Amino acid sequence: MNKLVKEKILENLPENRVNITIYDEIDSTNDEAKRMHLDKEFEVLVANKQTNGRGRQGKKWSSPDSGNIYMTICTENDLSFAPASLIAGLVCINSISQLNDFIELGLKWPNDILMENKKIGGILVEKELINENIKTIVGIGINLNIKDIKDKEYWWGDLSNYNFKKDRHKLIKLIIQNFIKFYDEKINWIDAWRLKCIHVDKEIEIYENNVLQKKAIFKDINLEGNAIIDTSKGIEILQSGQINIKGIY
Ligand code: BTN
Repeated sequence: MNKLVKEKILENLPENRVNITIYDEIDSTNDEAKRMHLDKEFEVLVANKQTNGRGRQGKKWSSPDSGNIYMTICTENDLSFAPASLIAGLVCINSISQLNDFIELGLKWPNDILMENKKIGGILVEKELINENIKTIVGIGINLNIKDIKDKEYWWGDLSNYNFKKDRHKLIKLIIQNFIKFYDEKINWIDAWRLKCIHVDKEIEIYENNVLQKKAIFKDINLEGNAIIDTSKGIEILQSGQINIKGIY
C-alpha cells in the first residue's frame, strides 16, 4: 500500500533530486529527518500516524491515523533566499487551491493555515548543523480529517468537507513540487504572502509562553519573514512568537 502511494507521489517528480519514505507510524517525521542521512537533495518523509507529533513552541501536534498529512521536507540546500516556514505555508495554500480553487484559505503569521478562521494546518521548521552544512527540516501538518479527535481546541479545523482523502497523495506531490519550484525559481513570495495574510492592519495580541505581552496592529512582514507591528511605543519587529487575533484565536 505504502509502496503504491510512494510511486504515485514520485510520478513526475525529479527522481534524481527527491527521495520519499512513507511510514505507517513514526514518532515524528521531523525527528526522523534529524536522525536521517540525506541521500538526495530533498528527503521527504510522510507518515500516516505520529506518536509524538510536535507543533511550534513545544506544543503537541495531534497526529492520529485519520488521513491527515504529516510530512517533512528535509534539505541541506541553501534556503536563505526566503524563510522556509512562510514559504511552506504559502506553498500548502497554493497546492490545496490547485486541487480545489473554491476553498478560501488564509495565513496567520508566522505559518498557520486557516480556513473559515479555523487552523487547518501548521508548519514547524527546525535547523541542524551537519558538518558545516545547515540541514533544514520543514515539517508540515495538514488536517484532512479531525472528526474523531477528542479534546479538540475550538479553533482547529479540517478539510473533511472537500473529499481530499482520495487526493492525499496528489496534494503531497504538489506540496513537494511547489516547494522546490519556489527555491529553484526564486519566486517573489512576499506579495503573495501578504495577499493571503488574514490580519494585515488588524489588532493582534502578542504572547510569550502563553502570557500576554502587548497589543499591537499587525502592519506587514519583511524579507526575513519577521512581523512588523505598530505598538503604543512605535514600530517594532517581531522575530517569532505567537499572536492572537480578536475573534479568531
Ligand atoms: C504548528 O502549527 O504548531 C506546527 C505543526 C507542525 C506539524 C508537523 S506534522 C509533520 C511534522 N512532524 C512533526 O512532529 N511536526 C510537523
